[in-house]
Amino acid sequence: MTEDGFLRPALSALVPYEPGMPVEEVQRELGLARVIKLASNEGPYGPFPAALEAMARNAGDLNRYPDGGAYRLRGALAERHGVRFEEIAVGAGADGVIDCLSQAVLGPGDEIVCGWPSFPSYVIYAVKLGAEPVKVPLVEDRYSLAALLDAVTPRTKLVYICNPNNPTGTMNVRHELDAYFERVPEHVLTVVDQAYFEYIDESDYPDAIEEHFKAGRRVLVVRTFSKIYGLAGLRVGYGVGPAEIVTAVGKVRRAFDISTQAQAAAVASLGDDQELARRRAANRGGRDELAQILRRHGFDPPGPAVGNFLYAHAGEDAQILFEALLREGVIVRPLGGFGAPGAIRITVGTPDEHDFLDRALGRVTTKTIT
Ligand SMILES: Cc1ncc(COP(=O)(O)O)c(C=O)c1O
Repeated sequence: MTEDGFLRPALSALVPYEPGMPVEEVQRELGLARVIKLASNEGPYGPFPAALEAMARNAGDLNRYPDGGAYRLRGALAERHGVRFEEIAVGAGADGVIDCLSQAVLGPGDEIVCGWPSFPSYVIYAVKLGAEPVKVPLVEDRYSLAALLDAVTPRTKLVYICNPNNPTGTMNVRHELDAYFERVPEHVLTVVDQAYFEYIDESDYPDAIEEHFKAGRRVLVVRTFSKIYGLAGLRVGYGVGPAEIVTAVGKVRRAFDISTQAQAAAVASLGDDQELARRRAANRGGRDELAQILRRHGFDPPGPAVGNFLYAHAGEDAQILFEALLREGVIVRPLGGFGAPGAIRITVGTPDEHDFLDRALGRVTTKTIT
């Protein structure tokens, strides 16, 4: 069946997303007493208390299908951001929004432009549909928005700006985005991926909903409940953008993609600004601590990194380092699938997890990185 044209030709070029390894699998395979996961940029804390309560309240009604239109969630997000209900697209994670946007927009002959190394879904979902990804090399581990613009052709439909960029953690600042939007041609829809938005309080980091979408730019701004809100396992994210794009995304989304619990927990999480501030501050402290640990072991993470993760160049030793850390019970992220086979990415954890990592690095770096 693979040779007789039964499968779509686009699939032959498709390399699926490789998720970070699960703790249980590593524990089982390597027989380790303790395994920590600093691989998938999840927050180290669980759901907000109000989200846990909302899920408990709903549990008895799970015999019912979810609200396919995600009415309350979209309404709550519209209110929070001061936009219209029709301008809120929801998805099974930010990833679901990116997937559905791609389905709504892309086909053979179309192009997308993104920086590289970067978040692989932009590329995977384009390739899946037979569209062409144009990967623009980062400059000193950061998106160059001028280089993205130079790569735009009449066939470009989507330009992705991953801000901050996963995996490098670096950001593009206000004046760079402003200059980009002055120059980007009308036929392009720009996707500003702000999956880590709530972690960031740098004053020159732009809020693309407030500063670009509300200023009338042709942009879809993507956010998620997976990171600071601690709901990665539930799968819920959203985009804020032009109503006609939101309608198109809604047409290709499967009706019940966003579970009852995901919708309820997301709605309940909104508005707890104190908890957000507490987690933002804890992440900032944790990121500084993680950076110190990495520097002590000979790495030099690019910066300023503003998300909940750090990037470490390890050259040809990256895979060896990943495997050595795994044997020590620390799961980090190898980055071949992100276009960076010579680097690893490490998520900010708790002080205790950092201590565990520090000791593990002490045992492995002397053997690997010279
Ligand atoms: C830049 C970026 N965009 C989107 C996502 C997807 O997040 P979600 O869990 O909401 O699908 C991630 C997750 O790591 C990410 O790093």
